[in-house]
Amino acid sequence: MKTTRLTKSHIQKIYRPANPKTHKGTQGHALLIGGSYGKMGSITLSVKAALHSGAGLVTAFIPECGYQILQTVVPEAMVITDMGHKHLSNIQYEIEPNAIGIGPGIGQEQGVQHAFHEFLRRVRKPLVVDADGLNILSQKKDWISLLPKNTILTPHPKELSRLIGEFASEEDSKENAIRFARQHKLILVLKGAPTFITDGNSLFQNTTGNAALATGGTGDVLTGIITALLAQGYEALDAAKLGVYLHGLTADLALPETGTEYFVASDVIRYLGKAFL
Ligand code: APR
Ligand code: MG
Repeated sequence: MKTTRLTKSHIQKIYRPANPKTHKGTQGHALLIGGSYGKMGSITLSVKAALHSGAGLVTAFIPECGYQILQTVVPEAMVITDMGHKHLSNIQYEIEPNAIGIGPGIGQEQGVQHAFHEFLRRVRKPLVVDADGLNILSQKKDWISLLPKNTILTPHPKELSRLIGEFASEEDSKENAIRFARQHKLILVLKGAPTFITDGNSLFQNTTGNAALATGGTGDVLTGIITALLAQGYEALDAAKLGVYLHGLTADLALPETGTEYFVASDVIRYLGKAFL
């Protein structure tokens, strides 16, 4: 399949600046679901990234143990907790978000798997699934058919091999990922150096990013960025392309100032403003 490089001019055709008359109610409401005891940082990073990517409102759905952490670290976010103290156990809410991101730090316990299954049976919104959300899908392959059309999955290479199996070469793995995306009508963000994006009919190669991104939590930030773009009404493939490009660009912009060693996932968020500009 022909590979299209995601260049600045390609991305500039996708990006839409905010309407001057917009308000928080029309800028999109993003819901981020995840977190567990010891892994609250992941969903906190996703929530913060969504706020810094233009979403008008961001709600976190997290286990009870994360309440103070979330409200303290990200006062701009709203928080809903479920009955589970250390892990999510029942993903029920009465808000109507425009897009949902699920998976960062969520864990894979039985109770979480059950809650995730119930969530998938009901969900009808533009959706991003990441991290342990993907790992659960890898164990319960028949749940993949519950994903809404054009759901965005963001596996790193290990998560991808759990999902579609191991292949002899990277090329074979990519070919099979493309087939998987086409068969299930999903968008796959194949994270790596570089990252590829496919909807099963076309393949895009990102041109931004560097080794500074090889640090814990940068993937969680990407989930927040893409969910915020979906909430603002970008089509799934466009949200994936724009999100991946901007995410990599933060590291390129930071590099002369931070170098690779100093850079952490929060720095992706810190440079997002410059990347959007
Ligand atoms: N060059 C360019 N980009 C890179 C490089 C590199 N050398 N290294 C990493 N990246 C980018 C990837 O393309 C991806 O966008 O950084 C991001 C890393 O994402 P993840 O692998 O998901 O890492 P992380 O955020 O730490 O994941 C957190 O969730 O996926 C689970 O098991 C994972 O526990 C971990 C948690
Ligand atoms: Mg990750």
